Amino acid sequence: MRATHFGTSLFLLATLVACGDGTPSSEEKASPAASAASDPKDVLAGLPPEAQPYGLDVYTAKCVSCHGDLGQGIDNSPALRGLTPAAMQEKLLAYRAGQPQGAQTAVMAQAVASLSDAEIAAVSLYAGE
Ligand code: HEC
Repeated sequence: MRATHFGTSLFLLATLVACGDGTPSSEEKASPAASAASDPKDVLAGLPPEAQPYGLDVYTAKCVSCHGDLGQGIDNSPALRGLTPAAMQEKLLAYRAGQPQGAQTAVMAQAVASLSDAEIAAVSLYAGE
């Protein structure tokens, strides 16, 4: 019980700190590309229709062997659950950038190494929830 309250307080505190005075930090201002890319739909919308990859095609070619046709996960590869398309895109971009995620980061880094931003956006729309 006490621990729950403590956690709630921490959360509220973090929220207050995160809200600040509402002024975007200079870091946020300096990276318009990153914020523009946060919704995978926007990434695809910026391309002519014929250049928009299909998420299912990317998933079938690059992901299904490890994550399964339903995203249920196979062997050591986790199920793909609970990630919004935007959250999945962010993860995939982080893997591609070589930023450490889980213990098997290297496996995923290799899996997405050759994917374009558009392919990552498309597969995130397909496999995200
Ligand atoms: C060779 C097997 C393999 C392939 C191919 C592969 N993955 Fe993964 N995937 C993994 C493993 C293993 C992890 C756990 C990585 C870690 O420890 O961070 C993972 C993690 C992930 C995660 C993070 C899950 C979470 O809840 O944090 C996402 C999202 C993901 N994969 C999506 C994809 C997509 C989309 C593709 C196709 C572009 C793909 N994976 C291809 C094996 C694979």
